[in-house]
Amino acid sequence: MAFHHLLEWLPILLVLSCRASFSSAARATPSSPIKAVNLGGWLVTEGWIEPSLFDGIPNKDLLDGTQLQFKSVTQQMYLCAEDGGGTIIVANRTSASGWETFTLWRITESTFQFKVFHEQFVGLSSQGDGVVAVSTDPGQSETLEIVRNANNPKRVRIKAPNGLFIQAKTAVSVTADYPESTSWGDDDPSVFLMTIVSTLQGEYQVTNGYGPDKAPQVMKEHWSTFIVEDDFSFISQNGLNAVRIPVGWWIASGPNPPKPFVGGSLQALDNAFTWAGKYNIKVIVDLHAAPGSQNGNEHSGTRDGSQEWGKTDANIDQTVAVIDFLTARYAQDPSLLAIELINEPLAPGVTLDSLEKYYQAGYNTVRKYTSSAYVIMSNRLSADSTELLPFASGFQGSVIDTHYYNLFSNQFNGLTVQQNIDFINNQRSKDLATITRSNGPLTFVGEWVAEWEVNGATKEDYQRFAQAQLNVYGRATFGWAYWTLKNVNNHWSLEWMIQNGYITL
Ligand SMILES: *[C@@H]1O[C@H](CO)[C@@H](O)[C@H](O)[C@H]1NC(C)=O
Repeated sequence: MAFHHLLEWLPILLVLSCRASFSSAARATPSSPIKAVNLGGWLVTEGWIEPSLFDGIPNKDLLDGTQLQFKSVTQQMYLCAEDGGGTIIVANRTSASGWETFTLWRITESTFQFKVFHEQFVGLSSQGDGVVAVSTDPGQSETLEIVRNANNPKRVRIKAPNGLFIQAKTAVSVTADYPESTSWGDDDPSVFLMTIVSTLQGEYQVTNGYGPDKAPQVMKEHWSTFIVEDDFSFISQNGLNAVRIPVGWWIASGPNPPKPFVGGSLQALDNAFTWAGKYNIKVIVDLHAAPGSQNGNEHSGTRDGSQEWGKTDANIDQTVAVIDFLTARYAQDPSLLAIELINEPLAPGVTLDSLEKYYQAGYNTVRKYTSSAYVIMSNRLSADSTELLPFASGFQGSVIDTHYYNLFSNQFNGLTVQQNIDFINNQRSKDLATITRSNGPLTFVGEWVAEWEVNGATKEDYQRFAQAQLNVYGRATFGWAYWTLKNVNNHWSLEWMIQNGYITL
């Protein structure tokens, strides 16, 4: 071995030598390939999976991360953070896009802070009644009340912290000096038509939406009823041998995690391990929501869609501590199959550099407690699916997770049933083969679903689509996991798909 080659291998050799007890057989596939189902929407909330969880929240369409636009009824123009933020608010835009969009931080059911494009918050100017977006650290002066018209909740007024209402006095003068009394008419410059552009329904939204008095009880009820022991019995009787359980970073924070998150999901995970043992099911613990959010999606526990994970060492260290906590707790449990270090980090916000740094530290942390648990490294979304292979090859028992959906991309629009099936048999098959290498990490299709952009497909169409995916993903050397067990949308519920004969394992 030439010297420079030795240098290249040195870090790997050092890692390997620390774990002499970890035999090379650990690189082999699990004794039976993993046929798993995700327990999505359980310990990390996703509103689309179980919308009723949000039903008891007042003003439930105004949660953290909701994006709003406001059209002045007198100017017939949209409110806009001039320059995207850092200066005044104006009302001189005929159409709305980024600078005309305000993202909510919910303070109470009717008071909010409005984040603008460049991440400042709307508030009162330090002199006078002018409305500006300059503060990056919102407080009382940036807390606004949305007052909705009783007959038309999209017709609103915005009360400033000085007790007066924001008005579009002219197109270029937006001030907080309109009195309480209103006709709600089209001649009132303090009336705005509010458009909800997008919403988030994740763990942050549900817990902050209910607030500290109600959230603990609501979440406890959800955790103890959404997934129960019978589900593990069902899983074991229907040809599945593992579950992938998404968890959020706050699970490691004890009974009182940072607000608005609430404690208790750890007890639910403990229950899952108990039931897994009873029904001979393996468990993959999947860190689905990392501190600061690794992808800005609601399933990452984000407050407002921003993605902060991995930008600082402190943040990576905090995440490693979560992995340490979880591995320490379950390493000796025979049901523990794998720890997934993070789900779906999104490129380019999460850099390959920070991700590899984290994977190295996370892997070492898992190995402090167990030489047999697999360590799953998720590919970055929007990145080359092979980018982690050279890196991950250096770790015994490593697995690459890749997610395959015939959704979320224009390329699937208008495809027929057969074209979707062909895509699985040709493209997905090739994609999976590309990342499955003889001395590389094992491969895991950690999320897939028998759902597509096809309208009006028959039961037989769905059966063929599901079977094609089972055939192809069955070649993944670690295994696969359906997304998800339970969902109000039938095709996304493996329980429903099995009970109704769409999928047989
Ligand atoms: C809106 O008003 C601001 C402030 O006077 C001005 O700088 C900007 O050019 C105006 N934009 C449009 C589209 O009229």
